[in-house]
Amino acid sequence: MPFDLRSTFQDRLGENYELHEQHINPTLVQVQRIIGFDRVYARAEGCYLYDREGRDYLDFLSGYSTFNIGRNHPVVKKALHDALDLDLPNLVQMDCSLLSGLLAEALLKKCPRHLDAVFFCSSGTEANEGAIKFARAATGRQKIVALKGSFHGLSTGSLAMTGSGNFREGFGDLLPVAHVPLGDLDALEAALSGEDVAAFVFEPVQGKGVVFPRDAYFAEAQALCRRFGTLLVADEVQTGLGRTGRWWGHQHWPIEPDILTVAKSLSGGYVPVGAIVTRREIYQKTFSSLDRCVVHSTTFGRNNLAMVSGLATLSVLEDEGLVANAAARGAELMERIDALRAKHPVIKDVRGKGLMIAIEFAEPPSLGGKLAWRAMHKMDGGLFIQTVVVPLMSRHRVLTLVAGHNMDVIKILPPLTIGEKEITRFVDALDQTLSTVRQPVGPIVELTTNLWRQKSKQRAGDRRRRELAGAVV
Ligand SMILES: Cc1ncc(COP(=O)(O)O)c(C=O)c1O
Repeated sequence: MPFDLRSTFQDRLGENYELHEQHINPTLVQVQRIIGFDRVYARAEGCYLYDREGRDYLDFLSGYSTFNIGRNHPVVKKALHDALDLDLPNLVQMDCSLLSGLLAEALLKKCPRHLDAVFFCSSGTEANEGAIKFARAATGRQKIVALKGSFHGLSTGSLAMTGSGNFREGFGDLLPVAHVPLGDLDALEAALSGEDVAAFVFEPVQGKGVVFPRDAYFAEAQALCRRFGTLLVADEVQTGLGRTGRWWGHQHWPIEPDILTVAKSLSGGYVPVGAIVTRREIYQKTFSSLDRCVVHSTTFGRNNLAMVSGLATLSVLEDEGLVANAAARGAELMERIDALRAKHPVIKDVRGKGLMIAIEFAEPPSLGGKLAWRAMHKMDGGLFIQTVVVPLMSRHRVLTLVAGHNMDVIKILPPLTIGEKEITRFVDALDQTLSTVRQPVGPIVELTTNLWRQKSKQRAGDRRRRELAGAVV
């Protein structure tokens, strides 16, 4: 019988976690079970996911900022259906496809004017890897400088630039990259002054922790780059395409990066796509002669469905005024979360740009609050924040995420399409959750029970595997 997606999906929905446990990443399954994120979603639309029972979940995680236009947007969906129906020639490789030309043209219209050349790939990390090569080829230099606390992806070059968390542990030596503290211009000057650094790479708003300078740091950093001949590379993989309330995150500061890297939301949440956007002069230093015309390339880089997703996504962002909506709704959301501080002094800071928002917590002033806070942090540095993220999900069906390893910060990345209804649902859920966090026993019991269930499940699995191994022997 030919493959039939509808019946396969219908018949096997619910086996998700067992399949992943067996064939993909059982450690991730364990974590999802412990924090109660092991839901079986059947459908998605706009800002919501729906489980098999039809319950809605408010998606304030957006696939790590992949769904700026919301899930399953009808315009992108139709464009993809059309592309399939047209039986287009795809990935001929030794041709120049129309759709990639059109997407490059459309993307450049949204980019600062000084940028005029595009390279397409399939992910954020790949865009950053390419940016390293472009910068090296253009400057003839090797070194890269990045920021502490940064995240640039997990393939080896991007991982070397990533300056946060425990991502690098266990993977040995990587490309040498110097990491300087965000905001420290002296450190940056010292790192660049040898005039041997190809690129200074930064996220306009750091994804881990949602951190950004509140002063002229980026403008001064650009001046240092210009002075020492280093290219300025803005990683806009997460901050790009309206997330921060401007088309590009770097546009909150008066700077002109030499290279932008883009991915995530350009896909419309459908087909992976990444891009390096730069100046022609820099681009041509890589593709510098006829025999180097494909010296940097990737098989799926300009594939039709990715290009269609990008074209339709850009038009949705424009037609629905989503960049302006992100700015307005982001300001409203931050104001309403901030207003909760009077009632919940455990909220220390609410910060962000557009709809990239962090809520940071700190030890509350009351004696009971202090004791609970300290006890939880003594047990595990990442426990407190789970007592916020877990009930937001289990009691209110709101998806959020921890902003980084061992941080008392949650991050919210709603689709840029949110309105009053979604804001109110989130703020009410947070308010109620923080009221229960004052007596953290409930959420801790929930976590411990999930953890215990996981452990017994794992023990049963191990036993079963031993029995099977015994039977084989
Ligand atoms: C700023 C930034 N750069 C790069 C990446 C890596 O992108 P990808 O996961 O598509 O490789 C991410 C992913 O979260 C990111 O946030």
